[in-house]
Amino acid sequence: MRKIYMDYAATTPVRKEVLKAMMPYFMTEFGNASSLHSIGQSAAEAVEFARSTVASAIGANPEEIIFTSGGTEADNLAIRGIAKANRDMGDHIITSAIEHPAVRNTCADLAKEGFKITFLSVDKDGLIDPVQVRKAITTKTVLITIMHANNEIGTVQPTREIGRIAKENGVLFHTDAVQTFGKLPIDVDGLNVDMLTMSAHKIGGPKGVGALYVRKGTQLKAMQTGGPHEGNRRAGTENVAGIVGFAKAAELSVKEMGSESARLSKLRDRLIKGVLSGVKEAQLNGHPTKRLPNNANFSFLGAEGEAIILKLDALGIEASTGSACSSHDLAPSHVLLALGHSPLEAHGSLRITLGKETAPKDVECVIRVIPKVIKELRAISPDIKEMKNVKWADYKDDHDHDHMHGEEED
Ligand SMILES: Cc1ncc(COP(=O)(O)O)c(C=O)c1O
Repeated sequence: MRKIYMDYAATTPVRKEVLKAMMPYFMTEFGNASSLHSIGQSAAEAVEFARSTVASAIGANPEEIIFTSGGTEADNLAIRGIAKANRDMGDHIITSAIEHPAVRNTCADLAKEGFKITFLSVDKDGLIDPVQVRKAITTKTVLITIMHANNEIGTVQPTREIGRIAKENGVLFHTDAVQTFGKLPIDVDGLNVDMLTMSAHKIGGPKGVGALYVRKGTQLKAMQTGGPHEGNRRAGTENVAGIVGFAKAAELSVKEMGSESARLSKLRDRLIKGVLSGVKEAQLNGHPTKRLPNNANFSFLGAEGEAIILKLDALGIEASTGSACSSHDLAPSHVLLALGHSPLEAHGSLRITLGKETAPKDVECVIRVIPKVIKELRAISPDIKEMKNVKWADYKDDHDHDHMHGEEED
C-alpha cells in the first residue's frame, strides 16, 4: 500500500543533503568541540559555521544563538531563564491559552513557584488581540511569551505588533517559532522579539536539536549547570552532527521558502476546499488566511478524532488529531476549546499538514477518502444533533472506560 504522510507538523524525514552533511561528524570528524586538538577544533569550527547559518536565517548575530536539544528545551530556557534572572524585577508572565505544552506547562510550573501567569484568550480563529496584550501588562511583568504560529490550527499571530507593544513597555518578548522557522520569513528585528525558539526536525533536520535566539544584552539564567558550553548559557557537550544537520536544513528551507510555501499554500487551499465541500457539518479550524502554508485542521461533528486517524492510517494516510504530543491524551484539545468549541466538537478534529514530499495527487486522494471515512464513523455514532447536547463530563466517563490505556502517555 502506498503511504501518504500528512503529518509534517509532527516531524519530517531527514533530507538527504542534511544526512550527508552530518555523516562525517559521527565518525571521521567525531571530535568534542571543546577539545584543543585538531579534531576537536574541526568540530568547533563546524558548530560555529552552523551558528552563523542559523543566525543569518533569522537576521541575528551568531553569538545570539544557543543550541539546545530541541524546541522544548529552548522554550524552557527562555521562560525559566528570564523568570529566574529577573525575579527581583517582577513575577508576572503573559502567555496565550493556545501555546504548545512546552510553553504552557513551563508557565504552569512557574505558577507553582509563585509566578503569576496570564493566559490570554484568543478569538474564534485563534488570533490574539494585541490590545489585550497591552492591557495585561503590569509593573511586575517580566516576560511575554506568545507563539508565532500555532502547531494545531496553523494560525499565525500578529507577532510584530505584540513585539512592538512589549518593546514600548520595556517587557521582554519570546516567541515559539518552531512551526514557522523555515516556512515563513523571520527577521528578529522586524518581529521585535528578544528570544525565539527553533527546532530542526520540523524542517528536514534531525530530532533532538534546536536553538534559542537571545538578543544581545538579555539577562538569562542558565537552566542546565555544567561546563562553559554555549557561552555559559547551556552546559553539555554540543551535538555536533545534529547542529550541522540543523544548519543544513535551515539553509535549504530558507533558500526554497518562496517557491515551497507558494506550492504548499495552493495544495492546502485545494485540500480545504475539497474537504469542506465533500463533508457536511465540517468546519475549518484556525484563521482562513492568516495560517501556515502547510496546515489544514478540521472538525467533524459525530466522528471522533482518534477513530478518524486510525481509519485513515489503515488506508495508508498518516495524519493527526491535534499535536503529536497530545495524540495519546484523550482529553479534547486545549487549543480548540480556547477557540470556543464544545468539548465534543474539540474531540473530532483532524490535522493534516503538508510538506516536501506532498504531491497534488496525494491531496486529491485525501479529498476522496475523508468523506467516506467520516460517513462510516458517523453511521456508528449517536445522532449529531443529540451529541451537541451531551455534556463533556458524561461523555468522558463513558469514554474513559474504553480507553484507559492511553491516559498515561504524552
Ligand atoms: C510550536 C511547538 N513548540 C515546541 C515544540 C517542541 O519542539 P521539539 O520537538 O523540538 O522539542 C513543537 C513540536 O511539536 C511545536 O510544534
